Amino acid sequence: MSAVVDRLATLAQLGSHENGIDRALATVQERAAREQFAAWARERGYALAQDTVGNLFARRSGLREGARCVLVGSHLDTVPTGGAFDGAYGVVGALCALEALDARSIGTEHPVEAVAWAGEEGARFPLGCLGSSVFTGAYEERHALALRDASGTSLGEALASAETGLLEGVPMREDARLAAYLELHVEQGPVLEREGIALGIVTAIAGQRRYRVTVDGSSGHAGTVPMARRGDALMSAAEIVLAVERAALVAGETVVTVGTFAVEPNAPNVIPGRATFSVDVRAADDARIDAVEGALRTSTSDVTERRRVTASVERLESRAPAPMDPKLRAAVARAIASIGERAIDVPSGAGHDAMCLSRVAPAAMIFVPSIGGRSHVAQEETAPRDLELGVEALVASIVEVDKFVI
Ligand code: GLV
Ligand code: MN
Ligand code: MN
Repeated sequence: MSAVVDRLATLAQLGSHENGIDRALATVQERAAREQFAAWARERGYALAQDTVGNLFARRSGLREGARCVLVGSHLDTVPTGGAFDGAYGVVGALCALEALDARSIGTEHPVEAVAWAGEEGARFPLGCLGSSVFTGAYEERHALALRDASGTSLGEALASAETGLLEGVPMREDARLAAYLELHVEQGPVLEREGIALGIVTAIAGQRRYRVTVDGSSGHAGTVPMARRGDALMSAAEIVLAVERAALVAGETVVTVGTFAVEPNAPNVIPGRATFSVDVRAADDARIDAVEGALRTSTSDVTERRRVTASVERLESRAPAPMDPKLRAAVARAIASIGERAIDVPSGAGHDAMCLSRVAPAAMIFVPSIGGRSHVAQEETAPRDLELGVEALVASIVEVDKFVI
């Protein structure tokens, strides 16, 4: 078995349960994945560093004194029912690429660092791309550390704990000067498989916004309160949910997801007094996302006028569409051609740390096919030969990028 396949199988054990892999940021399982990454990097003599929010870096030195680093990586955390490839592939692939440079005695002008970004999924703390947002200055470190999970634990508390926190004996990263960023990822969609092509070069990452909606009504007896006198939080929330679905369909080329929904007190014979839910909206252009946000706000104020409820919409996160760097994309295309392979341009509907990195450095992404286009589920899968080819494309891309960035 190749190193990339073997290592992904090792990581897949961490957080594994009957419906997939659950490796949320700053949990025992996610820390174990960071420890595993650190152990692999130490074995090869790469210098490790971390930062205060849990990003972890393994550095292969460059030949030129003072050259900025080429960062290559992805994330180790998962959604609650995650697969073995989303994120983990880009981290393991980056490490395998550094090792391939060693094995082939290829020196690079720039230092090259494999990075495992902390908390890309936003599954536990309410911010996606958490680690890369802080790293790139898009989100303040103190605000990130103050974010709380559903049980009230803050990220700062979780990262201070010996069981779930930062790694012992790993120094804080000092060098923040970037030459370029590359990310290898599974496509998570159907295009490459449909086209029968093993490599994709990402054109742009769709914009996305996440909201938390809270509807407060009044709890009461399910059998005695007449319908006209109710302030049913769930019935009101249901109207809002369907309004955003309609808005996304009208906007076109827009996706909206209500992925979390909590009802209180959550009993069959009590009128729901509170409903809280998430809304995630994505599209390749901001105008479409604006249209769905408009519908979200209008329908929310509409239910508060017609029903006996109050409601609030909090925007937790907003990311503009992120085009990848044209020169870096061209370098990746040349690299892929240089190893005798073909690639097509593909857009990304999924979010990635590359969105954040693209604001501060040239960034590019390489995709490999996802079988059945499936992701964020246990059945997520990519053929071993495609995983290996992706790493080869990454090695060639690092070499190509090293030639022209300063
Ligand atoms: C991450 O996978 C996202 O697209 O939300
Ligand atoms: Mn991912
Ligand atoms: Mn994901």
